[in-house]
Amino acid sequence: MFAIEENVPLAEFTTFRIGGKARFFMQATNETEIIKSLEFAERNNLKVFILGGGSNVLISDEGFDGLVLQIALKGISTFAENDRTVFVTAQAGEDWDEFVAFCVEKNLQGVECLSGIPGFVGGTPVQNVGAYGQEVSESIVSVRVFDRQTKEIKKLINSECGFAYRTSIFNSTEKNRYIILAVTYALKFGGEPKVVYADLKKHFADRKPNLKEMRQAVCEIRADKAMLVRQGGADAQSAGSFFKNPIVSAEKFAEIENNAENLGLENVPSYKIDGQNVKIPAAWLIENAGFRKGFIKGNVGLSTKHTLAITNRGQATAKEILNLMEEIQKNVKDRFGIVLKPEPVFVGFEK
Ligand code: EPU
Repeated sequence: MFAIEENVPLAEFTTFRIGGKARFFMQATNETEIIKSLEFAERNNLKVFILGGGSNVLISDEGFDGLVLQIALKGISTFAENDRTVFVTAQAGEDWDEFVAFCVEKNLQGVECLSGIPGFVGGTPVQNVGAYGQEVSESIVSVRVFDRQTKEIKKLINSECGFAYRTSIFNSTEKNRYIILAVTYALKFGGEPKVVYADLKKHFADRKPNLKEMRQAVCEIRADKAMLVRQGGADAQSAGSFFKNPIVSAEKFAEIENNAENLGLENVPSYKIDGQNVKIPAAWLIENAGFRKGFIKGNVGLSTKHTLAITNRGQATAKEILNLMEEIQKNVKDRFGIVLKPEPVFVGFEK
């Protein structure tokens, strides 16, 4: 039966465990329900927020004065393109980490470094989820979407998605236009896992791991950094990295290094992106702007193992998270001249 609920508390749908109520709420388990829900919103002139696994959102204490539509489509299907490449299609509402476990179990290479990340499959193309040297854009073949503009179901191929670091058309140029229904990944049967990230190189020394060992290693490293949401504990209620790692030009980086040296800080960590730009770990900037791991302010704080995660340590409000966000942004800006951009999606803060 098609029934839209009213006044549904949203906190429990987010990994932050924060957020007021949705005026209307629908958990759609098939494509018809999605389309009907959108028609309902249009008839009633309601704003729509599309929710996935809630692992990268901060919902305001006032909640959302419109329709929250959770995409809960389930199912995984595989199709062997040839004896090396297997296309795997996962519906948007599949749990991402269960999907990774499924692929590793089937000896399919391409997403193993993305083990232990919370959220749903449908969220992964939106911000081009990446970790430990792998991004979903490397394996995505196409994304099945509902186009809210033309009211059609379409397939967008990889090159149409505009993937870059933590971004795609879905969170930039075409924000709010497409609803992701399913994602198809091309994975390599029996492929060798990629050992490129420093933490992984250290973990395996010279040994070549298999896919299961890679998954295990990534989960252990994430747990050591308290970035494995399912592990529970004081650090668990977060949205993972709260800020993006800033990308700066080589000139700007030289300036920052100079400035850091004057402050008595040596070796600003960085990764080369291309000939002109470098990425600086925001965690380092935050830590060296005076926020140690485990910093606490009222009900909010920083993870005890990683300064990039802002955590809800109990009854935190969204307002408290925002206050800490602004304090961190101010201190990092004052000290290093860099404005950190938040990574989560903000919902219900329009007023
Ligand atoms: N560092 C600190 N203090 C800390 C933690 C880290 O100074 O408390 C410095 C260290 O120099 C360290 C560097 O930051 O070498 C990088 O840390 P880490 O390897 O943990 O990676 P990250 O850049 O902080 C990114 C992603 C994570 C992803 C990891 C692993 C972003 C914004 N974050 O974090 O993604 O899991 O790499 O690949 O790109 C997420 O997006 O939610 C997320 C968890």
